[in-house]
Amino acid sequence: MSNNNPIGLFDSGIGGTSIWKEIHQLLPNENTIYLADSKNAPYGKKSKEEIIQLCFKNVDFLLAQNCKMIVVACNTATTNAIKEMRAKYDIPFIGIEPAIKPAANQSETQTIGILATKGTLNSELFNKQVENYSNVKILEQVGYGLVELIEDGKIDSEDMRNLLKLYLRPMVAANMDYLVLGCSHYPYLIPEIKKIIPAHVKIIDSGEAVAKQTKAVLEHFNLLNTSKKKAETVFFCNSDDEVLKNILGFSENVFEKDF
Ligand code: SIN
Repeated sequence: MSNNNPIGLFDSGIGGTSIWKEIHQLLPNENTIYLADSKNAPYGKKSKEEIIQLCFKNVDFLLAQNCKMIVVACNTATTNAIKEMRAKYDIPFIGIEPAIKPAANQSETQTIGILATKGTLNSELFNKQVENYSNVKILEQVGYGLVELIEDGKIDSEDMRNLLKLYLRPMVAANMDYLVLGCSHYPYLIPEIKKIIPAHVKIIDSGEAVAKQTKAVLEHFNLLNTSKKKAETVFFCNSDDEVLKNILGFSENVFEKDF
């Protein structure tokens, strides 16, 4: 395995680009390949077995491109299938879990909110994580419909604002002072979320922590790309790639590909 080989990332769609941006910022020398399985979004409504099979398909695709490591840039895929991926493939995996720990440790009201998919909130991994914070009230809210609207390019829409108000206002009324975004799609909603929740409520997502963890694992396995060449990034999407191009803000190296 060469250090120049790319890092592979995948998500159920375009949301994991929020993670890709953090990784690219921290590790600008790393070549990356991003896979948006938009055709099968949302994963959050699928059974654990279906999610595992989709993850295997995505990993096979990325390994065929010689990826040296895989970042599972999707909370639902991580919480339902990371164990199975690690068992099946001999390559380092980085997963993304909701940032409950910093929120729970810093909350003054002892009340935090978490917005995530049904698949994440129902997963064994998430529920085990939550057990460690019995001193804090954790308000769980499924973000029904949010991923679908993001994948449709409707972040700035009346439908989105109405859903966010419906989900967030009860958590604000229950005195949360931290809101954890437990889905890699949701950081794109932060501007809309900020219009709904009071300024003292802090929003936490996992992007920066995942990027730091990616760096640490590359260092551990001596896989950091030390080349001074400009990194190459390629994006593949198995449905219309317009929304992906819009969210990235560029269209070079973004390809539609059926996988
Ligand atoms: C989904 O596909 O339902 C959302 C992806 C995520 O949980 O990050």
